[in-house]
Amino acid sequence: MLKINKKILFCAAEAAPLAKVGGLADVVGSLPTALKSQGLTARIIMPAHGSVSLRVWRAQRLAAFSVNLGNKKEKVVLFQAKVGGVHYYLLQNKHYFSGAVYEGNTLDKYLFFSQAVAASLPFLSFAPDIIHAHDFHAAGVLLTYLQKPVNLRPKLVLTIHNLQHQGWVAAFKFKSFGFNPEIVPAAAKNAAGDWINILAAGIAAADKITTVSPNYAKEILTKKYGQELEKLLIARKNDLVGILNGIDVSSYNPITDKALASNYGRVNSVSGKEINKKALRSYFALPDLPVPLFALVARLSDQKGIDLFSLDKLKSLSKKYPFQLIILGTGEEKFENLAASLAINLPEVVRAEIAFDNVLARNLYAASDYFLVPSRFEPCGLTQMIAMRYGSVPIVRATGGLKDTVIDGRNGFVFKDYAVSSLFSSLQRALHLYYQEPQEYRALRRAGMSADWSWQASAPKYLDLYNSLS
Ligand code: GLC
Repeated sequence: MLKINKKILFCAAEAAPLAKVGGLADVVGSLPTALKSQGLTARIIMPAHGSVSLRVWRAQRLAAFSVNLGNKKEKVVLFQAKVGGVHYYLLQNKHYFSGAVYEGNTLDKYLFFSQAVAASLPFLSFAPDIIHAHDFHAAGVLLTYLQKPVNLRPKLVLTIHNLQHQGWVAAFKFKSFGFNPEIVPAAAKNAAGDWINILAAGIAAADKITTVSPNYAKEILTKKYGQELEKLLIARKNDLVGILNGIDVSSYNPITDKALASNYGRVNSVSGKEINKKALRSYFALPDLPVPLFALVARLSDQKGIDLFSLDKLKSLSKKYPFQLIILGTGEEKFENLAASLAINLPEVVRAEIAFDNVLARNLYAASDYFLVPSRFEPCGLTQMIAMRYGSVPIVRATGGLKDTVIDGRNGFVFKDYAVSSLFSSLQRALHLYYQEPQEYRALRRAGMSADWSWQASAPKYLDLYNSLS
């Protein structure tokens, strides 16, 4: 039986366009619109981070209340805003939420967020049937229901966007945020029982757990990808489902994207991309040569495979098959330095822009011929889908959602091992194709551009999931 008008409250650290650091924001910001097509109403609750302008989004004040943390109280002001048809609730608190999304002590910030969400519920005039928490930052919301009888609480869903960030917190600190460590199951504690893993506790508490691609849902049951939670995940296997992310195809559309130097579609992709390439080369002071342009846009963390780019290999490969490479992103200093050193040591081939820049990112999708996602692990990955939509052929490692979306020889290149030699043999294959078999290269580009990367296929899967809860 189709149940319509279920009400779902998304709890998350970030949501685009209000605040975006990573792919989490894209998903949380775009999924509610997709769910509307399934007769579902999803609203978002998140901190009113200092970086979120309440004025720009025309937020209205709804209520003010205090959050009782046991030995202290904190005042929160609740705002609401409607952005692109999506209803947002924003929690303002001077002490915890005045910085950027992941600035400061994120454990304190998000334990407080979880209690603030629970305390805000009576003021929302929206009684959710389902609380849907995203990642460890919001998993604490589920823990506020630990001892409530199932029939007296909303149903609880947790989506894992990244298993690496789990949130280990000392039991005494957990307590100081109004939680009861005694009722957290042992599977979510260390052996001595005095530290709590917030994500693990969320996994144990949720009625259903999802992750963002079918392949990652399988991988995390293994030691290799389970980030030490594989036993717990295996125990919850029957309630775990992998649903592939979509992208917001109206925002990411090369025909209308205002950030681009020049708009183009499938019919004029060759000439359109050339104009964008010229513009980008001039921005980066790269010579305008008839060589392919590779792009990498990512958070520079150990997840993303930056350490696979060997300077010597890049040097010798570029002698055999000339190419250019632009890296864009920020992150850990070690990887920022690595990217910068490639550019310094190979100035005729590599540029590195250590920045978080959405406009530049969009121009890289549009200008590049190949897009690199050599991740160590990748729950879903959105950039390879955006790249394909913009006619940039992805070169990815066979992991997580990359494996679900990129098929070697059909729409991109896929390599198996997390190893320098493995990446470079696929780069060589890609270059060979570009130079020796341009028709074949264009066929890959066309396949990516004509595929449907929207939420259309996945939205009904969320409907099934929510319906399975009642
Ligand atoms: C995280 C994951 C990425 C995923 C995104 C959205 O950033 O690392 O793979 O696409 O969340 O779910």
